[in-house]
Amino acid sequence: MKPLNRMEPITPSQRSEVLISGKRITKVFGYGKQRTAALDEVDFAFREGEIVSIVGESGSGKTTLAKIMMGLLKESSGEIQYRGIPRQLGNHRQRKQYWKDIQAIFQDPFSSFNQFYRVEKLLLDCLKLQGLQLSRDMQFERMKEACTFVNLKFEELYNKYPFELSGGQMQRLMIARIFLLQPKLLIADEPTSMVDACSRSTILDMLLKLRDENRMTIVFITHDVGLAYYVSDTLYIMEKGRVVESGPAERVILEPAHPYTRQLIEDVPKIHEEWNLG
Ligand SMILES: Nc1ncnc2c1ncn2[C@@H]1O[C@H](COP(=O)(O)OP(=O)(O)OP(=O)(O)O)[C@@H](O)[C@H]1O
Ligand SMILES: [Mg+2]
Repeated sequence: MKPLNRMEPITPSQRSEVLISGKRITKVFGYGKQRTAALDEVDFAFREGEIVSIVGESGSGKTTLAKIMMGLLKESSGEIQYRGIPRQLGNHRQRKQYWKDIQAIFQDPFSSFNQFYRVEKLLLDCLKLQGLQLSRDMQFERMKEACTFVNLKFEELYNKYPFELSGGQMQRLMIARIFLLQPKLLIADEPTSMVDACSRSTILDMLLKLRDENRMTIVFITHDVGLAYYVSDTLYIMEKGRVVESGPAERVILEPAHPYTRQLIEDVPKIHEEWNLG
């Protein structure tokens, strides 16, 4: 297969530290006949500043893994380590600390915002979450800066409610929040599925810029192997709750070892055209 043009990844050095890892993560839903093993002994390790994509068909366990990483769902067995030590989320203080470092963007931007809060409050809350003591002027400066970063005009939007924004504006607002929150780990579950191809690449570019500036680790969750190849340093391929293959994106795409990966890659030329990657 002819190699595709892709963005040159800023591969994190092997010395950069593992931010989050999981050993034999298993998640079982339900009992008896209803029992589903959504994850079956999944291992992973994501480094600081690394961009990882988790690719797999619908129902393969991607969102379940994301929720476990975020601490929204408890694993049935296995261990998550954060910064080299077992993650503890037993008490409120531990959860608060952990959730300061981790943010997610979900498929549907409508569900990401409290619809009763105006844009100004949604952004202001991010500054408060960071525990920064800023003057009112400084708060405005930071919020404006975040909006400018995502090509939104704070003056036009601050007084609006999320339901008064377009889908694309909402997506941008989500990224403005990430800009303010500066998480260590960003999990983006199909963040671009609701927008057209043009805003899609803008959104990705914004996220990649944030990674470069903040050394944020980004985990993209997607069905789209072309997109994953385009943006990632590392790929994890999931099938039926298992990671069937993982490694540097170039290696996984150009020399796939698992039949399921090969099957996914058969769609790439089509996606390649759609991405207009030359
Ligand atoms: N709360 C739940 N209760 C019972 N089963 C669940 C629950 N959440 C997920 N599952 C099951 O676990 C499996 C994995 O689901 P998951 O949402 O992780 O898949 P996914 O890879 O994110 O799929 P998609 O690409 O469609 O978003 C599916 O079989 C799903 O039905
Ligand atoms: Mg999902």
